[in-house]
Amino acid sequence: MTWKQLTAYLVGCGCCCLLLLASASGNPPPDGEGSPAIFAGNAEYVGSETCATCHDDYEAHLAVTGHGQNNFRNLSDRGCETCHGPGSVHMDDPDNAANWPRVDRLEPDLQSAVCRTCHDGAKQFFWEGSMHQARGMSCITCHSVHSPKSDTDQLQTAQPMEQCFTCHKDVRAETWKTSHHPVREGLITCGDCHNPHGSAAEGMITAVSVNEQCYSCHGEKRGPFIWEHPPVRENCLTCHSPHGSNHLKLQRTSVPFICQQCHANTRHPGTLYDASSLADGGRASNREFNRACLDCHASIHGSNHPSSPYLGH
Ligand code: HEC
Ligand code: HEC
Ligand code: HEC
Ligand code: HEC
Ligand code: HEC
Ligand code: HEC
Ligand code: HEC
Ligand code: HEC
Ligand code: HEC
Ligand code: HEC
Repeated sequence: MTWKQLTAYLVGCGCCCLLLLASASGNPPPDGEGSPAIFAGNAEYVGSETCATCHDDYEAHLAVTGHGQNNFRNLSDRGCETCHGPGSVHMDDPDNAANWPRVDRLEPDLQSAVCRTCHDGAKQFFWEGSMHQARGMSCITCHSVHSPKSDTDQLQTAQPMEQCFTCHKDVRAETWKTSHHPVREGLITCGDCHNPHGSAAEGMITAVSVNEQCYSCHGEKRGPFIWEHPPVRENCLTCHSPHGSNHLKLQRTSVPFICQQCHANTRHPGTLYDASSLADGGRASNREFNRACLDCHASIHGSNHPSSPYLGH
């Protein structure tokens, strides 16, 4: 997208904030031709070298990131003004705060539009309409152009998961539970399962469905099996929590209860009849002993044993 196209896009969106911004600074509304429309409508490009005469520290920050490197310049020779817009009005009166070309003062969607002139495909393809976009976030909610803290991806926190945890405190709590996916240990990341920029699937997961997401690492659970267990095919999350659980193996609750949510009326009911069935009752039920139901129905995800329709070994 060129600036011209961006202008058309922004004007097309009918975004009144633009006009407000322009009128507040005493400048005419965006004129469309050659101007990014985002800041001061009648400004002209002055070149990065000029910006650097006063903001040399910002040029230094930029130089160590992908944006300051050669491939960025190939995409655009506007330098600072690629994102900040043409700077002549600002330079006429540098101290006038109304003319400061601050990207972070734009409406969130306009902030993102600046970035999306280049980053509108690949992982960012589903940004429009994503939960994060819909909740008023922008690219610079998570990323920092000038002072990134992470080694890659220019995030505002050193560890990617910390970026997510600034808002998703409930998920942070889950990852502290005894059974959890090794995100905290650094073996996998939130980004292995989610695309924070949005995805075609529910829950912003990177696969087409929850089960496909799980199969991508736990391939042995895909089957096919001679004896299938229907809830496993339907949705792994019926029994498992994706982020953390205080029960073994990320189970939502422990056996036998997890099974009894559905199997209350089997040929050998797992329900407790009275206290005598409890472990200290003298006649402990074998269905609560040790691994409970799993002692006998061990192939809970499906069995390939020719003569074991009951998900035994
Ligand atoms: C003649 C010196 C000068 C030049 C050249 C200049 N600026 Fe500034 N700029 C300032 C001053 C002074 C401020 C006021 C705030 C400050 O001191 O940081 C400022 C503020 C800003 C701010 C807001 C900073 C804040 O803290 O909110 C941005 C963004 C900015 N300039 C970008 C640019 C860009 C991009 C260019 C090149 C197009 C540029 N400036 C050229 C002097 C200059
Ligand atoms: C890729 C887009 C991009 C480029 C290129 C860029 N900036 Fe920025 N700049 C931003 C964004 C976004 C912010 C808001 C804070 C942040 O994300 O770090 C910002 C913030 C600033 C600020 C401080 C304003 C504040 O919010 O504190 C100054 C000053 C500034 N930039 C100057 C420059 C100068 C000078 C250059 C060229 C050497 C430049 N920028 C190049 C996107 C850019
Ligand atoms: C003119 C095109 C252009 C614009 C506008 C632009 N970028 Fe980039 N961006 C690039 C290029 C080129 C790279 C370098 C890719 C590489 O290093 O492989 C890059 C890299 C990145 C990276 C990845 C850095 C890494 O370590 O892999 C992030 C994150 C990023 N940009 C965010 C932003 C944000 C946020 C904005 C808006 C404030 C923005 N970009 C605006 C072209 C652009
Ligand atoms: C909720 C936080 C968040 C928001 C909002 C966000 N990002 Fe990211 N971004 C990340 C994380 C985390 C990564 C690294 C992990 C990954 O690739 O999923 C990343 C990676 C990237 C990368 C480098 C990887 C790649 O795609 O090549 C670019 C470029 C990027 N983001 C651009 C953007 C742009 C443009 C926007 C706005 C449209 C944006 N991001 C909004 C969190 C975010
Ligand atoms: C600035 C706050 C913020 C940050 C940072 C943030 N999120 Fe979110 N996220 C939200 C909000 C708000 C929602 C909307 C859901 C809600 O209201 O509970 C959401 C929703 C989600 C959803 C559910 C999507 C859906 O369709 O149900 C996922 C998954 C998600 N975020 C993952 C991430 C990941 C991964 C990161 C880190 C890369 C991250 N978020 C960073 C605020 C944030
Ligand atoms: C092993 C894959 C996986 C990993 C790793 C993962 N998630 Fe999830 N997450 C899921 C699945 C699956 C869902 C449920 C999606 C659905 O409801 O369709 C989900 C749901 C969510 C939701 C929305 C509902 C809720 O449970 O709160 C948020 C927010 C979220 N994840 C954030 C994160 C964050 C932050 C991280 C990193 C700490 C992370 N996830 C790591 C698979 C994962
Ligand atoms: C990116 C790869 C990846 C994806 C996707 C993934 N997992 Fe995992 N899973 C792992 C890793 C790594 C472990 C830890 C294995 C270990 O400790 O030996 C694990 C462990 C588990 C465990 C055992 C936990 C424990 O306490 O021992 C369960 C249960 C599990 N995953 C279920 C799921 C479910 C359900 C999904 C889909 C929502 C899923 N996984 C998606 C990588 C993944
Ligand atoms: C009917 C409930 C249920 C469903 C549905 C379910 N699981 Fe499990 N899963 C369990 C139980 C119970 C255990 C503990 C087994 C054990 O301790 O031997 C377990 C253990 C696991 C483990 C760790 C031990 C191992 O066998 O590797 C992984 C990984 C796992 N499940 C992945 C999945 C995936 C992927 C799906 C979806 C395809 C899924 N589960 C669906 C009940 C279920
Ligand atoms: C969400 C409901 C649900 C949960 C939870 C569940 N199951 Fe099932 N299970 C089913 C359904 C539905 C069938 C198929 C019944 C049929 O074919 O008549 C089935 C079949 C079975 C069968 C084979 C029965 C047969 O007739 O072939 C066994 C054994 C079994 N489950 C054991 C378990 C155990 C052990 C657990 C706990 C780890 C469990 N199930 C959890 C729904 C569930
Ligand atoms: C001591 C071994 C053992 C334990 C423990 C056990 N089962 Fe079974 N289960 C069997 C056997 C053997 C069958 C084969 C059916 C038969 O001939 O009675 C069976 C059959 C089943 C069936 C299919 C038949 C029907 O009635 O629908 C289900 C469902 C089932 N068990 C669920 C469970 C649940 C839930 C638990 C835990 C509360 C459990 N089982 C504990 C051995 C066991």
